[in-house]
Amino acid sequence: MPDIISEPAGEGVILLRLNRPEALNALSLSLRQLLARHINELSTDDTTRCIVITGNDKAFAAGADIGELSRRTVLDADFERSRVAWLAIEACPKPIIAAVNGFALGGGFELALHCDIIVAGEGATIGQPEVRLGLMPGAGGTQRIVRAAGKFAAMRWLLTGDRISATEALGLGLVSEVVPDQDVVARALALADKIASLAPLAVRAIKETVLLGPDAPLPVALALERKTFQLLFASEDRAEGTQAFIERRQPQFKGK
Ligand code: CAA
Repeated sequence: MPDIISEPAGEGVILLRLNRPEALNALSLSLRQLLARHINELSTDDTTRCIVITGNDKAFAAGADIGELSRRTVLDADFERSRVAWLAIEACPKPIIAAVNGFALGGGFELALHCDIIVAGEGATIGQPEVRLGLMPGAGGTQRIVRAAGKFAAMRWLLTGDRISATEALGLGLVSEVVPDQDVVARALALADKIASLAPLAVRAIKETVLLGPDAPLPVALALERKTFQLLFASEDRAEGTQAFIERRQPQFKGK
């Protein structure tokens, strides 16, 4: 079986299942490269509107593969290969939803942090334990967590490597929703279905603006929002969406 199983899961929705159960879905470089290949393909596939990434009941992903990390040297080319693999997810213009059950640790939670929405199960365990390995997060954890949860929550968590529950993570703004474990994938797919039914250009514009804005000065971010908003007036879907509202019917969006 491949390390990732890709399956269509509704109109415009693709479900990617991480599949290294023997290692709790530890993110070996080859798994990450395979994930990047899937995401790159889906990024340019017009029929794909939303992607859901999940693991299994025991683990979303237990982090980078510690065996591989133990063998790396400071000038190892795998650092660059790893960066290129993460970039594919960072650059994906389609919304990605993480459906998290079980352990989401280290690079595993950083994978979820690369996504746009995180649906976590009540029994999920989340953590950045790298400090306990004499390491630190290396796939965006220090930066994305501080932006999502603020300095004091981030420091408390990153400096101790403590694990927290999904409910605590929700309180810190580190996940979007917590649902019963057995409902995680279904809930993520329901959100994906809803997003996939909406105007693709508007969805893409919202994702891009939300992600770029926080790193720009507010006047620049607001200008980006205004310009992107204005650009959507060139789309047929904007005309269809507003007209459908006026005519009290469901809009038929085409992604044009
Ligand atoms: N890398 C490689 N193998 C891993 C792994 C990992 N991150 N996590 C678990 N495994 C393997 C175990 O070695 C074990 O394999 P064997 O059966 O062949 O011995 C198998 O998965 C099951 O794991 P456990 O027996 O340990 O399961 P458990 O239920 O007793 O414990 C756990 C679960 C608490 C998640 C524990 O496995 C654990 O602590 N894993 C490591 C978590 C971690 O430190 N992650 C951070 C990695 S560093 C990182 O992520 C940096 C980065 O991206 C930049």
